[in-house]
Order: sequence, then structure tokens, then C-alpha cells
Amino acid sequence: MKRVALLISGGGSNMVALADSMTGDHPARPVLVLANDPEAGGLAKAAARGIPVAVVDHRPFKGDRAAFEAELVKPILAAGADIVCLAGFMRVLTAGFVNRFAGRMLNIHPSLLPKYPGLHTHQRAIDAGDTKAGCTVHEVTPVLDDGPILGQARVPVLPGDTAEILAARVLVQEHRLYPAVLRRYAAGDRTPVFLD
Ligand code: GAR
Repeated sequence: MKRVALLISGGGSNMVALADSMTGDHPARPVLVLANDPEAGGLAKAAARGIPVAVVDHRPFKGDRAAFEAELVKPILAAGADIVCLAGFMRVLTAGFVNRFAGRMLNIHPSLLPKYPGLHTHQRAIDAGDTKAGCTVHEVTPVLDDGPILGQARVPVLPGDTAEILAARVLVQEHRLYPAVLRRYAAGDRTPVFLD
């Protein structure tokens, strides 16, 4: 059974989708939900599910990423995590941290990578006149929103879409895609998952 640490910054809806998928014959279990913000709404949702939670607030580190990450890694190691899932974790991680978890850290990003790494993905898709948007799960490498693609789900961009409307449509697919990828990944299968 693989042990999964879930890193969040906010509401944690992807974390909930992942945690709730890890039951029965699933080859993994959630062992930690870790947030960089003590106000992250996902913390209460994890606690309600009986998942151990931890917080390493990034703010006292005032931009010293290495010092922040030296603390962030501690609960992950203490939990004995085999796999780390970034689930709406909004801090950029250094190569030093990423390389510690090479080949066992995943991220979900709300665009069809390689399009639109970084922020404001939905507005950028709308501004570009794209007719398709979506989300990507990928292995994390030191390059932001890069790394081998493990799955993508696509949605239409519809006339009149705002970034908020499109984000909500994509989020529904995120909740399908990330659990589907994690189930395969935890079983050692890196064949990409494509959903429409
Ligand atoms: C999700 O849409 C996720 O794809 C995005 O943040 C949201 C978190 O929502 N992640 C990124 O933008 C990472 N660069 P959640 O907290 O409800 O899962």
C-alpha cells in the first residue's frame, strides 16, 4: 500500500477527491494533508476524514524558499510518504525539494500543458480564443508546470465564458482526472489518462 501526502494551499477540493478515492482496492492511502497556510479550508475537510494534518506557514520565512522547504519536508518524511500529490499547492518549489521526490511527486495544473504554465490559465485560454481548455496531471520536475504528462481532461470553452465559469467547468474534470491518474500511478502504471 502506497502512502500519499497531499499538499494544499486552499479549499482542497482536489485533495478531497483524491482522499475519497483511496478506499477499497485502491493501491494507496492518504497519510498526511499538509498546508502552507493555516487558513486553508482543506485542513478541516482532511481532519473530518481522519487524515493527519500539518501546517508549515511560508510567511515567516519571508521568501527564503530553502528554509521554508527544510521545514516543509519534515512532516512528509515523518509520515513516511511514498508519493506526494500537489493539490492546489501554490508555492513554487526549488529543485532541491523537487529532486528529493523525483519520480514520486505529482501536480495538477488547470490548463492543457504545455499551454499556459503559471497563473491565470483560464483567462489566457479565453483571451487566446481557444475552443478547448482543461487540466493536466504531470510528474513534478524542477521546471514549473513541466514534467512528464500523466493525464489530461478537456472541456469546451463556450461563448460568454468568464475565467470563473471556465474554471468551474475545468474543476469538475480535475476531480475526475487526478484520482484516475493516482490510481494508476500508485500501481506503477504511468500510461497517461485522457478524458473528454
Ligand atoms: C485547482 O484548480 C488546481 O488545478 C489549481 O488550483 C486549484 C485548487 O483548487 N492549481 C494550480 O493553479 C497550481 N498551479 P482546490 O484547492 O479546490 O483543489
